[in-house]
Amino acid sequence: MPILFHKEEREFHLYNEHMSYIIRILPNLQLENLYYGKRVSDKPTYSCLSENVQRPLAVYSGDAANDKISMHHVRQEYPSFGTGDFHYPSFEIAQLNGSGITAFKYQSHSIRKGKRDILPLPSTYVESDGEAETLAIVLYDTVIRTKVTLFYSIYTDASVLCRSALFEHEGDDPITLNRAMSASVDLPDSLFEMVQLSGAWARERSVKKRRLEDGVQSIHSLRGISSAEHNPFIALKRPNADESNGEVYGFSLVYSGNFLAHVEVDSFGCTRVMIGIHPDTFAWVLKKGESFQTPEVVMVYSDSGLNTMSHTYHRLYRTRLARGIWRDETRPIVLNNWESTGSAFTEDKILLMVGKAKELGIELFVLDDGWFGKRDDDTSGLGDWYPNMKKLPEGISGLSRKIEAMGLKFGLWFEPEMANKDSDLYRAHPDWILSTPGRDESLGRNQCVLDFSRAEVVDFIYGSMSKVLRESKISYVKWDMNRYITECYSRASDASSQQSVPHRFILGVYDLYGRLIKEFPHILFESCSSGGARFDPAMLYFAPQVWTSDNTDAITRLKIQYGTSIVYPLSSMGNHVSDVPNQQVGRITPLDTRANVAFFGQLGYELDPEELTEAESDKIRKQIVFYKKHRDLIRTGTFYRLGNPFEENHAAWIVVSENKDEAIAGYYRILNEPNPGTTRFYLAGLDGNARYLVSGKNAEPYCGDELMYAGILISSDDWCSKGDFASVLFYLEKK
Ligand code: DGJ
Repeated sequence: MPILFHKEEREFHLYNEHMSYIIRILPNLQLENLYYGKRVSDKPTYSCLSENVQRPLAVYSGDAANDKISMHHVRQEYPSFGTGDFHYPSFEIAQLNGSGITAFKYQSHSIRKGKRDILPLPSTYVESDGEAETLAIVLYDTVIRTKVTLFYSIYTDASVLCRSALFEHEGDDPITLNRAMSASVDLPDSLFEMVQLSGAWARERSVKKRRLEDGVQSIHSLRGISSAEHNPFIALKRPNADESNGEVYGFSLVYSGNFLAHVEVDSFGCTRVMIGIHPDTFAWVLKKGESFQTPEVVMVYSDSGLNTMSHTYHRLYRTRLARGIWRDETRPIVLNNWESTGSAFTEDKILLMVGKAKELGIELFVLDDGWFGKRDDDTSGLGDWYPNMKKLPEGISGLSRKIEAMGLKFGLWFEPEMANKDSDLYRAHPDWILSTPGRDESLGRNQCVLDFSRAEVVDFIYGSMSKVLRESKISYVKWDMNRYITECYSRASDASSQQSVPHRFILGVYDLYGRLIKEFPHILFESCSSGGARFDPAMLYFAPQVWTSDNTDAITRLKIQYGTSIVYPLSSMGNHVSDVPNQQVGRITPLDTRANVAFFGQLGYELDPEELTEAESDKIRKQIVFYKKHRDLIRTGTFYRLGNPFEENHAAWIVVSENKDEAIAGYYRILNEPNPGTTRFYLAGLDGNARYLVSGKNAEPYCGDELMYAGILISSDDWCSKGDFASVLFYLEKK
């Protein structure tokens, strides 16, 4: 049983073989967190971990001896503000009389097998009830007559605890939720480093670490989407924890909109972690009978470093967040025309590229931006999802049929949430964009954001996209989103609902995704946002892979893929081999290295195959044969980060098949060095007792333990002649 309730002591113990999470109901009927960490034995009470001392300047609730509690000094579960706790609260409710004070008290609880959906929000799921157990604790405020249910789902076999909160209002007077975080966790000390994945366009998800200090440290997005600047994830790790050792607590929010991940260290060394929808752009009015569900936060505890935390997220997100047939299907190798033609293409040019792609072994052609409306550059056409007949005389339907007849599948680009002012859509419905009355709207990439908080706008886009998808042979959709959101005001909402528009916009996006997936379950959706500006767990619920970054330079990709892998599995990373000099950084890297980096994800090419020399074509043919042979191992294997490109002159990693029979390891030396020392490449995750043949090495097998603890020697001779940006790939097979 992963969830126990000790009736006498009124304590809940949620545990599995990896972790324990212990909560008790306090005498004042609020909730106290007693422990979160490595699995501890069950016993009737852990109240010995609770400290209720009287401190100067503290403010107390209750007056009887054991009822006198300073909520500031209690480690809480879902704290409020204004009744003695002076930290930031997890929620705030404004009431008609102007008060924000609430007192939610334990009312009841239930423990159920399985895990509930929180639709329309995406969340992790179970396939059978035995996979998880869910505790729901109901708290009630009798003055405003509102219920908050805190949900805790613990997976039976993984160190995963998923939390969310549901507000249900029963009172006659409406209330306004001004803050509703998905979870709050109080940890008893502050000896942690905060790990975050931050960056910008073309350098998304760099791994940054900082030691926690007294006060608040946080990351957020107020850009309308999860953003390239900060991923909706933080981890707290012990200062000595590294990739393979030490305690790590991960917090990953299944949400694509504005978020806040907030860590507060108080003067007594207690650390409060909260994550959820950003309160600064959120307010939600609840009338009698209405409810509000927060997004889910997925908490992962590891006592053996960041790699173990990542493995837990990878497995969960690949198998119990991603859905549909593409969750488990082998993904096609694509050719995308964006970096080679931009929007300046003709049908003839596309068909020539497809013919050459076929010879190389590529399986699916993606027609990127520029196929619709009046779209010759980024100033016009967005929103007009019908083919540009000048470029494509037989439309998308004709082109898709021709491509299928040539033996490739066909994929198509859309940017559903946007419109250019120079578009038929904008001309017909100028009020359908987000903008404030009487003021100019700001443009990003010359485009406006459609008001997806309005059902009729989502319906319209659904109608135009589904028409194209129905009429043509389309196996893949790249869903792009190329600007951040400003002037987030809906012409269809009244004043009291304007602060709910950012969240309702995201619900509109989920709604459109959900409807398209339902009607076209065979289509593989790849999400994209100027590369990886919306690479978040919620997107994986709809689109199992994401265009990782617009940056296709192999060397900067080392960092991007390394950072992305902290949370996201290789099955979710779209990686393309592109032309050199690279479009984003001008770097010239060897074709082998470009492929050796792109192999660790879902492979594609983004170049003009007609421009390749015979030697390059040969290499690419071989790369594709190699990838086809091993792509399922790469998609489903366990990925270990071995060498950190943020800290060293190299990157290294390995993906090991679940049964440990096979593995592929990559080692990348960034800059060449004169007369370098030798390198021992220490592998991980192998069967220590097995013997492995290693490609490119002597015919004698290596022992698994030897490969992990003594390493593979990469001699300086191997590197010297190769110049900068050299790499080596090892395929290992159990003998
Ligand atoms: C941004 C994407 O990340 C690119 O791959 C490409 O699709 C362009 N948009 C097209 O406008």
